[in-house]
Amino acid sequence: MNDAADRRIRAQDQSANTAEFGAQFEAWRQRMEYALAARLPQPDKVPARLHEAMRYSVLGGGKRIRPALLFATARTLGLSEDDVEAAACAIELVHVYSLVHDDLPAMDNDDLRRGRPTCHKAYDEATALLVGDALQPLAFQLLASDPKLPASPAIRLRLIDMLAQAIGTFGMAGGQAIDLAVQGMRLDIGQVEDMHARKTGAVIRASVLMAAECAPPLDANLYAALTRFATAVGLAFQIQDDLLDVTGDALTLGKATGADSERAKPTYPAVVGIPASQQRVRLLHNQAVNALAPFGDRAESLRSLAHWLLSRQY
Ligand code: IPE
Ligand code: IPE
Ligand code: MG
Ligand code: MG
Ligand code: MG
Repeated sequence: MNDAADRRIRAQDQSANTAEFGAQFEAWRQRMEYALAARLPQPDKVPARLHEAMRYSVLGGGKRIRPALLFATARTLGLSEDDVEAAACAIELVHVYSLVHDDLPAMDNDDLRRGRPTCHKAYDEATALLVGDALQPLAFQLLASDPKLPASPAIRLRLIDMLAQAIGTFGMAGGQAIDLAVQGMRLDIGQVEDMHARKTGAVIRASVLMAAECAPPLDANLYAALTRFATAVGLAFQIQDDLLDVTGDALTLGKATGADSERAKPTYPAVVGIPASQQRVRLLHNQAVNALAPFGDRAESLRSLAHWLLSRQY
């Protein structure tokens, strides 16, 4: 992990709601670092520059929230980390692909990501396009054939379907298209929530539901409860991202602040203001935690993660 990212992560973990969960989260991050490094192409293989850029973008940095959601859901459902590690890697790879493309001049035109120059700054735009192009199929390849994924062909197929839907036109890519199309426009709050649910919520929701897919079939009520949890957390996450662009600190965040208003993006705080946005996050957090009630103590990791997210500063 690079130094800036390491400092940012430790700073918040010292104030994590419980020391125990902070240690758990850190252990998941370490696991992800090895798991991702082992699955990315080696930099000495041709084309070396592309492989280097893929590793630069994926490794060292990032909160690994989506993998943490998979691991915490796995715990809730009686699975081990090993059972979902490959799926966690798949989610993180598509997430990084979305960030690398999101930062391109044709999209948000950002120079800083995870405390370092963005991929197209450290390399070049064509390489950044190709990094995304290569990370996305690698994610699906893991779901199809990763030898460490203990899933039947039928489950693998469902995981592939879920991830494809989460990042497609009705999920992340569609949300990103709306985000670009509405710059400078006035939206009502329902439209903002729809955009957020797609561009960010869909992948966060998939993180939870893909872990559930790896478990023995869940009772329909429990599945619905997990879906409510994941939907609320996903929307809250993007509202907080919007808030941090206004109230956060670039050094802590590892990315520029003030970028959304510079591009006249109709973000949550731009449309309803900061206090109402904070209030919405708290409400969604309560909804998320309430949804976990039927799982009792088994959902402790998910609950702790939701609390961590509520107070996140990066
Ligand atoms: C940033 O995601 C982009 C959004 C979807 C809001 P994260 O805040 O999870 O970014 P990293 O992975 O920690 O860098
Ligand atoms: C990005 O949203 C959502 C993605 C699908 C990548 P933002 O554009 O707000 O993310 P940041 O603020 O650049 O991380
Ligand atoms: Mg964007
Ligand atoms: Mg952006
Ligand atoms: Mg943002």
